[in-house]
Amino acid sequence: MNRPLLDLQAVGYAPARQPIVAEVTLQVRRGERLALIGPNGAGKSTLFQLIGGMLAPTAGRIVLDGRRIDGCSPDRIARCGVGRMFQSPQMFPGLSVADNLRCALLRRVPAGLLRRVATDSALQRDAARWIGDLGLSALADRPAQTLDHASLRTLELGMALAGEPVLLLLDEPTAVIDRPQAARLLDLVAARGADRTLLVIEHDLDAVFRLATRVVVLHQGRVLADGTPSAVRADPRVQQVYLGMDPGAIA
Ligand SMILES: Nc1ncnc2c1ncn2[C@@H]1O[C@H](COP(=O)(O)OP(=O)(O)OP(=O)(O)O)[C@@H](O)[C@H]1O
Ligand SMILES: [Mg+2]
Repeated sequence: MNRPLLDLQAVGYAPARQPIVAEVTLQVRRGERLALIGPNGAGKSTLFQLIGGMLAPTAGRIVLDGRRIDGCSPDRIARCGVGRMFQSPQMFPGLSVADNLRCALLRRVPAGLLRRVATDSALQRDAARWIGDLGLSALADRPAQTLDHASLRTLELGMALAGEPVLLLLDEPTAVIDRPQAARLLDLVAARGADRTLLVIEHDLDAVFRLATRVVVLHQGRVLADGTPSAVRADPRVQQVYLGMDPGAIA
């Protein structure tokens, strides 16, 4: 059997007595598109921070492609091929859209002479192609800090995808974006991230069920359900967790 790309083994995070993440065991295979859902405060973002190295687990192991990564720095984990998009936008605010994308593309190129060569035409061409695909051509020369929220999220998603991560973590990529723009963004993930392994935290359940090949439900830091979108949708325990907060959301 192929080994999983990402292997979480009884991962826990308990900075105080009450654990925020507890005994999360989860294997993600290469090419899967896994959505992580669950009510507010379930521990989804914390789990991403554990995988990305911003937090170190207090229990268990995290293995990426056969290599243990828990406790490694975020930098090191990024160099192992884990790309991220956070719950709030992160980029170089003073740089233009085009320059931000060039930075993301440069991450794929080793430092030194090769990097200097790559800064020329191929890089310009790649950045222009990405900007076109993202629908940001009209904004290419604008500083990132002047963009509206949806364009900023689109740029950030493009930057995450352009870095060609082996595993991409997207924490609420469509938060605070209106539905048509959110749908466009997720179509972009499906199209340009088709050959990537994705872990997506998303509250819009319609979007989740469209994009994901597998859904994991986190509740109070633990895995409540794990299966195909239709199996999770039909799971009475999942329906119960969502009842009261958004009746019918999962129906
Ligand atoms: N560093 C921390 N120290 C202590 N408590 C924390 C820390 N980070 C998060 N928490 C708490 O842990 C719980 C899980 O938070 P987390 O942000 O992971 O939830 P989430 O599932 O991403 O929620 P949301 O859907 O609202 O983004 C929350 O109760 C939060 O207040
Ligand atoms: Mg969160």
